[in-house]
Amino acid sequence: MQNKMVYLNGQTLPLAEAKISVMDRGFLFADGIYEVIPAYGDKLFRFEEHMTRLQNSLSAIHLPNPHSAQQWLDILTALLEPGFDQAIYLQITRGVAEKRDHAFPKHVVPTVFAMSAPIEPFTALSSGVKAISVDDIRWQFCYIKSTNLLANILLRQQAVEKGSAEAIMIKDGYLTEGAASNVFAVIDGVLLTPPKSDGILAGVTRDVILELAQSNNIPYGEDIISLDALLTASEIWLASSTREIVPVIELDGREISEGQPGPLWHTMNQLFQAYKKSYS
Ligand code: PDD
Repeated sequence: MQNKMVYLNGQTLPLAEAKISVMDRGFLFADGIYEVIPAYGDKLFRFEEHMTRLQNSLSAIHLPNPHSAQQWLDILTALLEPGFDQAIYLQITRGVAEKRDHAFPKHVVPTVFAMSAPIEPFTALSSGVKAISVDDIRWQFCYIKSTNLLANILLRQQAVEKGSAEAIMIKDGYLTEGAASNVFAVIDGVLLTPPKSDGILAGVTRDVILELAQSNNIPYGEDIISLDALLTASEIWLASSTREIVPVIELDGREISEGQPGPLWHTMNQLFQAYKKSYS
């Protein structure tokens, strides 16, 4: 693990040698953003979409993109280890300043870090997971993929301590998303997910699911979902780059889809696995 090669500020070096300053604003303020890009068959999945979201996050925090899309592709592809499914993690912080000051420093070079890590096969969670609903205690700009994940990690930890795999967040009575996933629900036979807004991260897996629903004539919609409605769902799924599509079989101690992955999950998961294969 410590010998694993990672990328830091223009260099590829062993993880154990990758060091940053304690004055890095990522360390001091979580003044940075990140991306997680899966790779299947040694090809980055939906690379352009991840680059678009990266740019949106950078623009939102007023940080110029340090690389062109082609440069990113070269940097990230070089980190892929052949032969298994993996995810690239990349992070850009505002960089190292001379003193700790909340306002942006004038002359500062962004810190760029990237590494790859194996993705568990989708079968690891395909028998379904438990989830809890929690109050969405985050700020108003959740469309930014910010490294400031304190609320998300506290909520995920709360779920883990209750034997659950995910915390499903509710704001003012309505579903937003999971601590590290988007959420889908099948209600009255229709596959639903909340519309994109400042209140959720625009998941790339979410987009793929909606596209697959459309091209396979599965009734779907982007609509607000109350917690009450969610509790009546015949199926609930979590979607993310690292876990793909995971069926939820228990929410707040109540069985969902009779405690088993539902029929639409099976259909969508097959479509997703086939899409992944065709993509790589
Ligand atoms: N997180 N919403 C939140 C809050 C997330 O953190 C994530 C993913 C998603 C799903 O987005 P995508 O389908 O593009 O992965 C939605 C990643 C995996 C993470 O933080 O590790």
